[in-house]
Amino acid sequence: MLAGKRVLLIIGGGIAAYKSLLLVRLLKGQGAAVTPVLTAGGAEFVTALSLGALAGEKVHDRLFDLTAEAEMGHIELSRSADLIVVAPATADLMARMAGGRADDLASTLLLATDTPVLVAPAMNVRMWLHPATQRNIAQLQADGVRFVGPDEGEMACGEFGPGRMAEPEAILEAVRALLADGPLAGRHVLVTSGPTHEPIDPVRYIANRSSGAQGAAIAAALRDLGARVTFVTGPAVVPPPPGVTVVRVETAVQMLAAVQAALPAEAAVFAAAVADWQVSNAAGQKLKKDRSGKAPRLEFVENPDILATVAKMTMGRPRLVVGFAAETEQVFDNAAAKRARKGCDWIVANDVSPGTGIMGGAENAVTLITGAGAEVWPRMGKDAVARQLAERIAAALQA
Ligand code: C5P
Repeated sequence: MLAGKRVLLIIGGGIAAYKSLLLVRLLKGQGAAVTPVLTAGGAEFVTALSLGALAGEKVHDRLFDLTAEAEMGHIELSRSADLIVVAPATADLMARMAGGRADDLASTLLLATDTPVLVAPAMNVRMWLHPATQRNIAQLQADGVRFVGPDEGEMACGEFGPGRMAEPEAILEAVRALLADGPLAGRHVLVTSGPTHEPIDPVRYIANRSSGAQGAAIAAALRDLGARVTFVTGPAVVPPPPGVTVVRVETAVQMLAAVQAALPAEAAVFAAAVADWQVSNAAGQKLKKDRSGKAPRLEFVENPDILATVAKMTMGRPRLVVGFAAETEQVFDNAAAKRARKGCDWIVANDVSPGTGIMGGAENAVTLITGAGAEVWPRMGKDAVARQLAERIAAALQA
């Protein structure tokens, strides 16, 4: 995936630096060349020896290194890279980046280049949440720096919260998203996925059996073709793929708002199993049994149709709007009618009758319905369906 790409990896001074050794291996495994740069702080956590051995390249760690300057000057060092990754990026290193400082090799390299920069912050939760750090992040974002993480969780210092460095696999995905030169490179694509939860009261909800597997696979396949993917997901069982922008929602109404906020996009794929109705008399407090023995009566109102809303936009409509039709009978006729009714360009129809094992399963058997007619695809893994669909989307956008 990354053959022929050169990554300059700057390792700052944090305990997460040990994970960057794994990142070097992952990047190399994808075919990238990795030039490691170790800050003075970073060298307290990992050694130049292990880094150099894993990268198979000289490790750069000093600004005033006459031998290194004679071989490759520090300006050339940062400009020859396709991407600069800072992992871990400490609060101090980000502060120096945001301030335009050049007081060590890492900050000088970052200042002396217009190569894209990806930062994986790692620090104590209070340092992360401190207004000074947040100010620096906003500045770096305004300067075009991209971020991956931090994650939330337990920290080496025993505290809990945001500040853990993103896992190496997630950093790799972010690198791939930035360096991929696939047919969808630079294009923004939206995918909805998973079920929605419609509350009955504060503790109960109505849901459906969608696992989110097909939507996650489609997002990953579009990402692999180079797209910038916004993934709007209900509470799904299958986790979102790395390397996409995840927006988590619960209800259909929230999903519609998230979709509208994520537009514009060149293509939008609506793989979510959106509840058709919401409970109009949802209770503000938990419903309780009373002595009468009578069950509560739920009333419903229709949810907004997200697919139809986007497909019928008069301004800013995605060039390609793809819906799904999960049917249990007369799959083709129902799906074709749905395509017309909703105003979408394509419908991916599948038979989810009991016994097919499709809903929640690993395989799918779909019929793609376009303006040109219907194509029956053989039953295959949801990943394969996703790859084939992503390729068709790429071809349609290129046409
Ligand atoms: O539920 P239905 O069969 O109408 O779903 C067909 C398509 O419409 C799917 O792509 C689904 O994601 C989308 N949909 C939606 N909003 C709804 C209902 C369905 O986006 N409220």
